[in-house]
Amino acid sequence: MHVLTVLDHPDPNSFSSAIARAFCAGAEAAGHTTELADLHTESFDPRWTMADIAADDTGQLPRDVLIEQERISRADAIGFVFPLFWWGMPAMTKGWIDRVWSWGWAYDQLDDPEKSLQRPRTGVLLVPAGARSDEMDELGYSSAIETAWIDGTFGYFGFTNRALILLNGSKGSDDRRKALLRRAHDAGESLKNPS
Ligand SMILES: Cc1cc2nc3c(=O)[nH]c(=O)nc-3n(C[C@H](O)[C@H](O)[C@H](O)COP(=O)(O)O)c2cc1C
Repeated sequence: MHVLTVLDHPDPNSFSSAIARAFCAGAEAAGHTTELADLHTESFDPRWTMADIAADDTGQLPRDVLIEQERISRADAIGFVFPLFWWGMPAMTKGWIDRVWSWGWAYDQLDDPEKSLQRPRTGVLLVPAGARSDEMDELGYSSAIETAWIDGTFGYFGFTNRALILLNGSKGSDDRRKALLRRAHDAGESLKNPS
């Protein structure tokens, strides 16, 4: 498979960047080809503007959106790596999805909100989070995020295999962080074919 990794972190020395590298290394160890969309390094503009709105009528998508859509077209699987911010996505990832998964290309909610216009793909979310998993489960954040991203957002894009991997305790001990890096490597190595 060809695996696209979408990374949202400005610091190449961050834990999130290391997670993205581990995921790509795992995918390559399994014989997949990989491609990295490093949104901060590439200065992707996450702001949804009049140019995006106009495209609904003209069909002329902004050039930076087309480049991202071409990347997606090449990919059989997509991994997203971003730190959990305020129990949600950081602005860069949110804006990338808002702009790149455009109406008429990614989905057509006027006909069937559950039916994607895209071919089946595998999607994995790898999300470093400062909080512990038991805290997130107890307060309901884990299930809220799973519903919003896995049933909601990823469902609209036609990911037939989809997984949310919360990497809890991302600010923890070296041992903890090593275990999370191994988990990201395993996620890349064990990617399933889109069914
Ligand atoms: C603006 C901001 C908001 C954050 N919000 C949360 C949060 O809601 N839940 C959580 O568990 N951690 C939260 N964190 C902690 C980050 O998830 C954590 O710092 C990150 O996973 C560490 O990875 P990094 O070294 O790649 O930045 C937040 C951090 C920042 C900077």
